[in-house]
Amino acid sequence: MLLSGFPLFFHKNPVFCIICVERRDFMDDTIIIRGGNRLEGVIDLQGSKNSSLPILAATVLVDGISVIHNCPELSDVGAAIKILEHLGCKVKRDGNDLTVDSRFVNACSIPDSLMREMRSSIVFLGSVLGRTGQARLSSPGGCEIGLRPIDLHISSLRAMGVSVDESRGCISCKKEKTHKDTVISLTFPSVGATENIILAAALGKGRTVILNAAREPEIKDLADFLCGCGCKVELTGHGTVTVDAVERAHGTVHRVIPDRIAALTYLSAVAVTGGDVLIKNTDTSHYQTVLPFFERAGCDITDSVDRVRIKMNRRPLALRDIRTMPYPGFPTDAQATMMATACVARGTSVIVENIFEGRFKHVGELVRMGAKIKLEGKVAIVDGVEALYGTRVACPDLRGGAALVVAGLCAKGVTQIGTLSHIDRGYEKLEQCLKNIGADIERCKGK
Ligand code: EPZ
Repeated sequence: MLLSGFPLFFHKNPVFCIICVERRDFMDDTIIIRGGNRLEGVIDLQGSKNSSLPILAATVLVDGISVIHNCPELSDVGAAIKILEHLGCKVKRDGNDLTVDSRFVNACSIPDSLMREMRSSIVFLGSVLGRTGQARLSSPGGCEIGLRPIDLHISSLRAMGVSVDESRGCISCKKEKTHKDTVISLTFPSVGATENIILAAALGKGRTVILNAAREPEIKDLADFLCGCGCKVELTGHGTVTVDAVERAHGTVHRVIPDRIAALTYLSAVAVTGGDVLIKNTDTSHYQTVLPFFERAGCDITDSVDRVRIKMNRRPLALRDIRTMPYPGFPTDAQATMMATACVARGTSVIVENIFEGRFKHVGELVRMGAKIKLEGKVAIVDGVEALYGTRVACPDLRGGAALVVAGLCAKGVTQIGTLSHIDRGYEKLEQCLKNIGADIERCKGK
């Protein structure tokens, strides 16, 4: 058809351009939700994206073959697999099971094209350096939710005796011959920096101690994987990590922990639609501090170690004091979907985003659906409304996209969500899981 693909910038007629923009939107997949259905049934929870990625990076350290179970089918995992293959690994996927043969790692640089596909590729820095003694990759840059600096990664590697050169958007590292025992005290419990230090310290000689390390469950999962490979990584309960370097890491079989953020996303979905849903294959110990927020909103929560059941038969109550914090505080990754719950709650909710400076991009899209939200810096004040209304919205980022899905599930009318590539980074078969429990949701393939 004439309209599709017409180069917008050549046309002076704004109306014509708008039509093309509309047409262009339709070229990507979109999710269509007809809101209002109660959700009832069982969800088999996906494996953790934020655990799979550092563990895949860790396979670069392994002189052997590793089998990783419960690895979700996500575009971010696909990007990590491309990097592994670029480095000389052989990767075979069989559903949620990945086999990684990393005996023949033969590269120490990652091209910009691969780094750009996934911002968290920075976690390969530590493992490539650990395996080959050097690493060269482009700076990950910022993303939709903030500048995402890596100063803690760089300063920690330098403290370990690694020479680091950052210039022209590139990071070049080289492990000095002499090893030395190191104590690193992180000024902020950065997840990525903790992971990179552990990966850079796992092979060779010497002891590395990290103080004020991140305590997220994904850190323990990475440590468990490495210990399965014969490495020596010990976590204490209060944020200290001790790594005693070993000569060689051998292959292992590991099961990735469940995705705690995906679990919280589904809980928010039921909180806004009402219903009765059981989430299986989860680990509720990973979000014990978050469940009370759902109970205070009026949800009936029954949980045991590997499952959580949520029942909701009323309009949620306002969420008074959500402040995102490092683990075990309220997770920043659940802020957007919890805000979607607050949008239709009875009363005013206050949400403080303390982790990422750009993590309110979903607010504008929620307001388009009728939400009443005021922003004051890192504080969002949400006046709950009786109902949201379906309209066309676009995902601003991964978790903001999930928030729009949650909002669409309870909105009156039809919600059309574009720019799904963000959601596909972190949610495995999201629309299928929601359809299985009663949502009126479908994915329309783009042109
Ligand atoms: C990980 O990102 C997760 N990503 C994020 O999940 C998550 O939101 C975040 O941890 C916090 O829990 C993965 O695991 C792939 P950080 P990461 O280093 O490692 C500042 C999602 O939606 N900082 O703990 O980048 C930084 O600016 C994603 O699944 C520095 O200042 O998080 C931020 O304010 C989004 N200097 C804070 O620390 C540094 O060198 C938290 O960052 C590093 C970080």
